[in-house]
Amino acid sequence: MKTRVICLAAGEGKRMKSSLPKVLHPLCGLPMVQWALAAVESVDAQPILVVGHGRDEVMQTVGDAAQYAVQARQLGTGHAVMTARDYLDDTVDCVLVTAADMPLLTAQTIRRLCAAMDGDADAAVLTAVLDDAFGYGRILRDDAGHITGIVEQRDATEAQRTICEINTAVYIFKRERLLDALDHLTCDNDQNEYYLTDAIGYLAEKGGKIAGVTADAGEAMGVNDRVQLSQAAAVLRRRINEEHMRAGVTLIGPEQTYIDYGVTIGPDTVVWPNNHLTGGTVIGKNCLLLPGSRIVASRVGDRVTIESSVLTQASVGDDTTVGPFAYMRPHSVAGARVKIGDFVEIKNANIGDDTKISHLTYVGDADVGRRVNLGCGVVFVNYDGKHKYRSVVDDDAFIGCNTNLVAPVHVGSGAFTAAGSTITQDVPADALAIARSRQVNKEGWVSPKKKG
Ligand code: UD1
Ligand code: CA
Repeated sequence: MKTRVICLAAGEGKRMKSSLPKVLHPLCGLPMVQWALAAVESVDAQPILVVGHGRDEVMQTVGDAAQYAVQARQLGTGHAVMTARDYLDDTVDCVLVTAADMPLLTAQTIRRLCAAMDGDADAAVLTAVLDDAFGYGRILRDDAGHITGIVEQRDATEAQRTICEINTAVYIFKRERLLDALDHLTCDNDQNEYYLTDAIGYLAEKGGKIAGVTADAGEAMGVNDRVQLSQAAAVLRRRINEEHMRAGVTLIGPEQTYIDYGVTIGPDTVVWPNNHLTGGTVIGKNCLLLPGSRIVASRVGDRVTIESSVLTQASVGDDTTVGPFAYMRPHSVAGARVKIGDFVEIKNANIGDDTKISHLTYVGDADVGRRVNLGCGVVFVNYDGKHKYRSVVDDDAFIGCNTNLVAPVHVGSGAFTAAGSTITQDVPADALAIARSRQVNKEGWVSPKKKG
């Protein structure tokens, strides 16, 4: 049985009060529409997305993951489905309609809805029972419990408003039944819109069989404003965190741990609260992420310890420690067993295995070899105000405290620089470079008077 999915995403989302189209607002790092598409992925590999408001941005974000129908004017959910009609040729058996502003809907629930069509149903509606159903369309049933229609809040009578079973706005139809119903939709309602909900009433009236599938109330939530956005994000965050915990990751405070969609973490890694892992970051196994780091689009090996640091597009090898208070900027690559200590900033630099950069150091645009020691306060002076230059420090070199390495400069293997040196010329292997003025002591310079 061939089922096509139509996902509605043309509405403006006025209540978001945003210049960004509503369905592009991210939840845990993934735009809302992509959560909605992920839930239907197993039904239709390339769903039909109905776009309108902000369509260029939406299409650019979603790309080839969908086909598109453009609804130039938003004349209602029924009208939105009509715009996708050309995709519903006679090879299609069923049409599943869903909305892009329902990021909590799961693939499992979608499968249950599809299964309702296995019998002789003409359509099935996904419903939910809410304590407070205000604002939603209500499900109408006859005395025998059969679904007879859906009425919107604003069109409902007092009695209908007491119904707690709501329409989630997710449905599946037999294709011919849907096309027939679309031909008969009118905009005779409070908003003068073509309501897709009326298709259900129309089919029921013609004697069609409408199945109802009840979803968990939590999944039914539509996101219309930023309060609901934060609530939905919290649910997704909990789901992501639970998945990691079930896969062997310890989260000390899951409520305060922010792991975006698409992040990978190896087993036996322990994550303390207030860590933010985003941008498809990959963390190895047996790592210790102490409190307070933001790790973006980075790769971290096994048995790595990171504390209170920021890493963006950085790579860290096995058994390395980072922080507290380190900053690894894009294209920083640290090898294995490296120490990147407190107040160390690395940018566009390679750091070889077993190298120690313990404190207060800036390494920018450099290639640092293995077993190098960079003393406290070393600065790679990579910028002359106009251009950036690269420097190289070979294996086993020892760069004394408070050394400036003025790029481009090359320190050979095993070489030393004296503390406080400003190195402007290459240093041969195994040499000691001293580039500072000699100390002069002026005896008795402080007069007895000055001493007071
Ligand atoms: C809709 C349902 C309501 C249901 C509720 C669940 C209708 C008439 N009502 O109401 O029964 O309880 O969802 O959240 O269907 N859209 C378009 N083009 C349009 C209009 C809407 O693409 O012309 C899209 C929106 O972008 C959104 C979805 O359809 O993704 C739902 O539209 P919305 O206006 O939010 O409908 P509700 O009033 O919430
Ligand atoms: Ca809505």
